[in-house]
Amino acid sequence: MGSIGPTYEIPPYERPPPTKENLDWAPLVTIDVSHFDEPGEKQRLAAQLEDTICNVGFWIVTGHGIPDEEVKRMLAIGNAFFKLPMEEKVKVPIDLGNDLNWGYREPTRALGDSGWKESVETYELHKDIPALNDVKDADLIKAYKSEWAPFMKKMYERIARPLYILIAIILELPEDYFTSRIEWQKRSECWLRFMLHPPRPDDYYEASRKFGISGHSDQSSITMLWPQNVAALQMLTQGGEWKWVKPVPGGVTINAGELMSHVTKGYVKATVHRVYTPPKDQRDCDRLGLIYFSLFNDDTKILPAPSPKLLRLGLMTEEEMERGKNPPPVTPTSVEYTRSRMRSRHHIKEFKQRDGNHSYVYKGLEAKSNYD
Ligand SMILES: [Fe+2]
Repeated sequence: MGSIGPTYEIPPYERPPPTKENLDWAPLVTIDVSHFDEPGEKQRLAAQLEDTICNVGFWIVTGHGIPDEEVKRMLAIGNAFFKLPMEEKVKVPIDLGNDLNWGYREPTRALGDSGWKESVETYELHKDIPALNDVKDADLIKAYKSEWAPFMKKMYERIARPLYILIAIILELPEDYFTSRIEWQKRSECWLRFMLHPPRPDDYYEASRKFGISGHSDQSSITMLWPQNVAALQMLTQGGEWKWVKPVPGGVTINAGELMSHVTKGYVKATVHRVYTPPKDQRDCDRLGLIYFSLFNDDTKILPAPSPKLLRLGLMTEEEMERGKNPPPVTPTSVEYTRSRMRSRHHIKEFKQRDGNHSYVYKGLEAKSNYD
């Protein structure tokens, strides 16, 4: 008989009510994937999505068929974890310095010399596949694996896959160009994140402007965010304005990340976004998030996709087109980029030195973040 682990109560979770303030919301396109497999539908959705991926970088997906009850249950599990005593939460720590991108990140880092400590907490969950069997899970997380693991896979199947197909169609690539690079059973550094921003005083938000919760692009290929009613997410428009991103009931907010931008020569925008001070009627609320960062398979070579459209638009050369078809042996892979970027983003030295605009280059792959 196997040993029985500790048991944990999971109280139900309800989101705080939406803000009553009239914020300057970004107008975002909604992609309804409920008829995705019907004839002509992919082409229709691709046409609807194209301007958004080039000029906005954020959009909403509906019609995925994942009920909000399941989402709230996931949030309840995350909430129960964050409410555990600190000595239990730190038992399975994330260790970015040693390339371990799953586990708990405690709120201990100093925000420069501001006197404040970063107060965000995260727990990163991994894909439940044989290749990741040796990843350790916290006891509470392990106890509910039979719920979060299929939930994560469902997000991959019902939200991520259709979007990767649409982006391939837009780029005039074979429909499976990207889906063959995000196969579920293959090892990748993907993570599903529980994230908690507790209420904080205004001074904290001022002090944190140059750090992680301020302007940044995601390093993912795409990011999928379930609705968080506490308004705080803002995106930087192509015109240089910060606009609020409105949570849509039943919808998932999507943004493209740096990996997708790299392989499309910047055609798909990894839009800069930030967590801003919530409106007054929500300042006292916990802001609990559930976010899936989708990444290519670890061994995917990160180089321009051989897209006839990018060639026609002058965004890639014939030589790059050829390299895309026959990658040279020394090409950065998705896992190399991800780990290097993680270290860059979170290394204490780099974290302390952040000052204004920040740029990052790894084997010719350049990313810019705007921490102002
Ligand atoms: Fe982000």
